[in-house]
Amino acid sequence: MNKEFEHIRNQTIGTVESVSPREIKVLLEANAPQNTAINTGIPQLFPRVNGFVLIPNESGALIGMISWVGIEYFQYPKTKKFKDYDLIDLPFPLRKLSISPLGILKEENRQFEIERGVYSYPSVGDPVVIPNQEQLRAIVQNKDINAKVKIGVSPMAANAPVYINPDRFFGRHTAVLGNTGSGKSCTVAGLLRWSLEEAKNELEKGMKLNSRFIILDPNDEYSDIFNGLSNVRCFQVKLNEASEPHDHTFQLKVPSWMWNSYEWSSIAQASSKTHRPLLRRVLREIRFGGRLDENDTLIKPRRFIVSILVTLRNYERQGINAIAGFPGKQNLGETLESAKSSLSSFLEIIDGEPKEKINTIINAIEAVLRRRPRKGDYFPAFDLNDLQEIITAIEASQGVFGELKSYQGPDEDSPVFFANEDFISHLERLAQENNAQQFMDFFMMRVKSILTDLRIASVIETKTKDEIPLNRWLDEYIGNNEDDGSISIIDLSLLPSEILFVIVSVLTRIIFEAHQRYRRKNGKVLPTTLVVEEAHNFIKRYDSDTDEITANKLCCQSFEKIAKEGRKFGLGLLISSQRPSELSQTVLSQCNTFILHRIVNDRDQEMVKKLVPDNLGSILNELPILPTKKAIILGWAAPIPLIVEMNTLEKKDCPRSKDPEFWDVWTGKEERNINWKDISDEWQKENNI
Ligand SMILES: Nc1ncnc2c1ncn2[C@@H]1O[C@H](COP(=O)(O)OP(=O)(O)OP(=O)(O)O)[C@@H](O)[C@H]1O
Ligand SMILES: [Mg+2]
Repeated sequence: MNKEFEHIRNQTIGTVESVSPREIKVLLEANAPQNTAINTGIPQLFPRVNGFVLIPNESGALIGMISWVGIEYFQYPKTKKFKDYDLIDLPFPLRKLSISPLGILKEENRQFEIERGVYSYPSVGDPVVIPNQEQLRAIVQNKDINAKVKIGVSPMAANAPVYINPDRFFGRHTAVLGNTGSGKSCTVAGLLRWSLEEAKNELEKGMKLNSRFIILDPNDEYSDIFNGLSNVRCFQVKLNEASEPHDHTFQLKVPSWMWNSYEWSSIAQASSKTHRPLLRRVLREIRFGGRLDENDTLIKPRRFIVSILVTLRNYERQGINAIAGFPGKQNLGETLESAKSSLSSFLEIIDGEPKEKINTIINAIEAVLRRRPRKGDYFPAFDLNDLQEIITAIEASQGVFGELKSYQGPDEDSPVFFANEDFISHLERLAQENNAQQFMDFFMMRVKSILTDLRIASVIETKTKDEIPLNRWLDEYIGNNEDDGSISIIDLSLLPSEILFVIVSVLTRIIFEAHQRYRRKNGKVLPTTLVVEEAHNFIKRYDSDTDEITANKLCCQSFEKIAKEGRKFGLGLLISSQRPSELSQTVLSQCNTFILHRIVNDRDQEMVKKLVPDNLGSILNELPILPTKKAIILGWAAPIPLIVEMNTLEKKDCPRSKDPEFWDVWTGKEERNINWKDISDEWQKENNI
């Protein structure tokens, strides 16, 4: 036995009776404490379920958590201290414990340190001891030198303080799970607050905090609880100017030019076969234009000429069959007719040489169409020379319109500015030119109705390139050098439901990509935490069998990507949810730390039990009866699973989700004035801001 542990022999309370990797049974001595142990320096409740015992061994002492306490009857007393078994053999009560092995407590330089996992088990007959105060602290306190943030105390370990290491906690994704009202939001708010307060304490004078938190807040609970702690910016859908509640709130902007082709497809319910290729092409071409100077009047004709060229080259590549002119097929004749009319429309807005060049192209098209005149519904077969003639005319305009290459520059998914109206007109033109109008009607209607809805437009529309350039967006939403710590709260509560998932999906994707690019540029990662409240809404399991692109699926996939790869780029998730069983498996299984509040529903309990190692089964039986504020913490940031009583947050620092006070309102102790007129006025005005 390790020498350092010899002095604790007087804390012995029993002996090991049976050993298995999941459970060790202990026979308590007759004189072991019945209720409160005082032989360790501090009074502690013993024996109690979830309390701790130690079994000294050659490498230190095995830490066990009590999972069962009971009495078994024997025919005669087993303990040596009772010598009366000469008399009558009466059944004799023996107290027993079951313990789950959790780890090893080592002593080095008079300091205790905890090591996870058990590699050497005790043997039958080994003594079992109660830890003293110092050892208890070592068990729950997390001796990791970076475990600096105190989150609460451990009631089963004589209220020893519990600390976490923020690197472990925020760096590898954490899930806070529990029923409604069990204290999740307070825990999340507390974790941020306690961590930042501690970081401020350690900050050298004159230095600024360099922390970043982005909170997705679906119920507007967090907007004013972090004031003074960091630079807080709250982004929300503004109803009107008068309803501006705080000075740190801003209009939420997730411009439509940030969306990639999948996000566009999901919102427009584009089918993958007919609409997506066209949509991608529109995005690619419109973004190409967006990079150029806005005052350049040639942008639109150039964009269109490039796009005709692409279409014609496609025909050329497909060969003679594609231009043979069967009725009902995509038809070169119709493409040429519509290209001609679109080109003619540009003649009004440009002059000089560009105008001449466009006229040359129109003439070339007309010459071909004269040779192959329309016969009723269809055109006669074209040949490759016809096609070549027009392509040559277009290529001859290169000197004036610049290089006519479409695929260089940004791809269809880059966040490059374009105006929504240009997007619609380009889409219409391309649909016409590709004879795809009949497939596109519904799709166009969806796109138009979304882009023209005023409430939606307030979030997704940017009229000019300078309204909110990408770099400024990143400065505001992720954080910048001037911030003294940054907390961005994205209040999703008034976001129109049609675009909610797309917006969250775009936000998370852009945030992730920004971190990826940051590392590539700087060689270091930028540590940021993305907090997701009510995560079951956005990280919901989806059906992976269909290839339909839906916004919910994209949204969940964005989070799955962060869960799988975010760590490498410094992006950590802190998710909070009432329904673990509805959450994406991928995301949950990537969470390395769990804070579990009360969970009553059996499906959710099952789910949680599946996520943690088997031998923790007993502590998880507490889940349905945990009081508010108490939680089980387990995983990477906690060396051993613990029941923690969280620090108390002041009322003003609690997220705004108080239990409704029915009785006090009913009985007039709390005033509730009703004025639906103000609300209805605001409500109705909202749609025509
Ligand atoms: N650490 C704490 N300090 C102070 N009060 C707390 C704490 N934890 C919980 N509470 C109390 O419990 C109430 C409910 O907590 P909270 O809003 O965090 O629950 P929740 O699990 O987020 O619920 P929901 O799922 O409905 O959002 C709070 O209003 C607060 O009064
Ligand atoms: Mg909550």
